[in-house]
Amino acid sequence: MAVVPASLPGRNFPILQDMRPGMYFSDDIIAEVRAASDIVDVVSDYVRLKKKGSNFFGLCPFHQEKTPSFSVNPELGIFKCFGCGAGGDVFRFVREVEGMSFPESVRTLAEKAGIELPEEGETSRERADAMEAVYGALRFAARFFHDELTRADSGQKALAYMQRRGYSEATIRGFGVGYAPDDWDRLLKEAEAKHISAETLEQAGLVISRKSGEGYYDRYRDRVMFPIFSHMGKVLGFGGRLLDAAAGEQENPQPKYINSPETLVYDKRRVLYGLRQARQVVREQEEAVLVEGYTDVMSLHQAGVRNSVASCGTSLTREQVQLLHRYAPRIVLVFDADGAGEKAARRAIDMVLAEGMSVYVVELPAGEDPDSIAQREGASLKDYLVKHRLDFVRWLHDTAHRAGQLDTPEGRAAGMRAVLQAIACIPDALTREAWLPRASEVFGIPEGRLYDVLESMATSRQREEFRRSARTGRPVSGAGGQPTGRSARRSDDPSVRKSRGPASGARPSVFSALATEKILIRLMFEQGLPMVTYILGNTSLNEFSPGASRRAVEGFAEQHRAGSMNRQAFLDGAYGAEVQQLIAEVAIRREEPSENWEQKRGVVVPRLDENPEEAARQAMKRLKIVRVDEAIARRAEEQSRAETSGDDIRTYQQDIIQLQALRRRLEKGEVIR
Ligand code: CTP
Ligand code: MN
Repeated sequence: MAVVPASLPGRNFPILQDMRPGMYFSDDIIAEVRAASDIVDVVSDYVRLKKKGSNFFGLCPFHQEKTPSFSVNPELGIFKCFGCGAGGDVFRFVREVEGMSFPESVRTLAEKAGIELPEEGETSRERADAMEAVYGALRFAARFFHDELTRADSGQKALAYMQRRGYSEATIRGFGVGYAPDDWDRLLKEAEAKHISAETLEQAGLVISRKSGEGYYDRYRDRVMFPIFSHMGKVLGFGGRLLDAAAGEQENPQPKYINSPETLVYDKRRVLYGLRQARQVVREQEEAVLVEGYTDVMSLHQAGVRNSVASCGTSLTREQVQLLHRYAPRIVLVFDADGAGEKAARRAIDMVLAEGMSVYVVELPAGEDPDSIAQREGASLKDYLVKHRLDFVRWLHDTAHRAGQLDTPEGRAAGMRAVLQAIACIPDALTREAWLPRASEVFGIPEGRLYDVLESMATSRQREEFRRSARTGRPVSGAGGQPTGRSARRSDDPSVRKSRGPASGARPSVFSALATEKILIRLMFEQGLPMVTYILGNTSLNEFSPGASRRAVEGFAEQHRAGSMNRQAFLDGAYGAEVQQLIAEVAIRREEPSENWEQKRGVVVPRLDENPEEAARQAMKRLKIVRVDEAIARRAEEQSRAETSGDDIRTYQQDIIQLQALRRRLEKGEVIR
């Protein structure tokens, strides 16, 4: 539901623009979802709670602890950790624990409580309907394949194949493994009998339209089917494996795996196979085991290593690493012991380090893969993986050593450089430095000048990284800052300054808007991504004044999309000199809201450091009120113009009434979450 009544034309109202459909829910809906969500019930999915008096206690899921300081109060519907300070309502809990945005948390809880959320806007409804249909088709297909494997005669040989490979019934069930029968249109017919259209099946990647003539045929035939689930448990696609190797060696060789194409619901870069099953354990153990194949994941889970995941037929992506980071700070790589596996591990090491996570590698004996080790080690696999894990410096050293690379001084220097290059991926300078003694110890090269080499690598890497994101991620808009020294010179140009000078007759509200915006900008700058999520989830770009302020906010949005905060980029002029100055100003001058505000508007403004979230909420409230006032003023002006020319003024009046209602809700502290 919109913040502003839908009958208002959005064009004239900054607050209305850029509001993505589905981003906002009405207060009623939110209240309904909150009331229907038992916080103890929700938290219990993640934390073992014990009742003590009227509260429940357990081990905090947000930090590591041995004695429970995490409490839930069902009466107030809140949680609080006295260890790490985390706290809030049921939405906040879901957001933190799942790494979700506010709207996502509303959707998740609504789904759990069986509340149907209103969709907004035609296009988004159409898209949502199409997605729903695709999800339905995928769910149907997963059930059909699973039944074929476990019940139908046709699946006998596939079941036998899985059993021969050592998979238990529980594993097969737990991963929803299935079988696509050896037929051109079994799925198609079964689905159509259930009123799932061929078009939907095609959209889901399950059937392919015939090149010649009409009609469709099943994409997967005579294959073992591994459904790929979202971390929320929705079927997104499939990996379909040949039953036996021989089929791959016929005259007309078949690929070992056929994977679902990307669809409306399946973005391969953002999905990890097994995460649905693994996520709880990943969180508990603060560690994920990353392998390469579907079968590896299943074998590891079966052998008790239930925190393992794999990418699905693609090489590891940054998005997947970020996804894992929501659950744990550490990744253990267990890749196949072959050239391809080693290469993949090298790439993964850099990516994991660049995400600010720690990484270990388990080296398998030649020719083995995680699946074979798991089947052999069984219950002792866990110990095996602990015993054989190497830190990345050691592993890089050992592979270089094995390749005979370390036998010459030049080779040793090259090996060392490779290690420094990996360390240089780490975003945090202190952590980088902390790895130096280890590198020097492993390679037997004195630390000496390593530090300088490392830092120059890190700097050029960051610069490169930024250039890349500037090339790809930046929205193309005339106002966007350039990451060069040129813009710095430009703003020194007095003519530019002058042309940007304060517009004559500027309303005083513009100035208070800017002061408020500065508070928000400072909060985002200082508090980092969670604050950016909070503020940008509640405001639109157009609420910020054009110029440096809006550009700075665009910068935060961009970094938010990229998934990591780069404060330095603001300070070294990457977003243009004006943004640089603005950031320096807010960061240094510690702009505090004036006392006046509290008196004039009856708004209590907490000190920014004490309660940043509340400070942000109040600042957003003020900013929105200013924007609504501006809209009202504009409408009044248009109304009086219409009056003089004898036009109908009713729409203006209605708009003003609705805006005033919105203003009252803002004053009451509604609207912002
Ligand atoms: N893969 C793929 N397409 C292929 C081969 C592999 O998409 N033609 C992907 C799959 O995600 C597969 C992973 O790469 O799970 C690892 O490949 P591989 O080790 O060959 O397959 P496994 O899943 O380990 O299968 P198996 O144990 O049956 O050999
Ligand atoms: Mn394999």
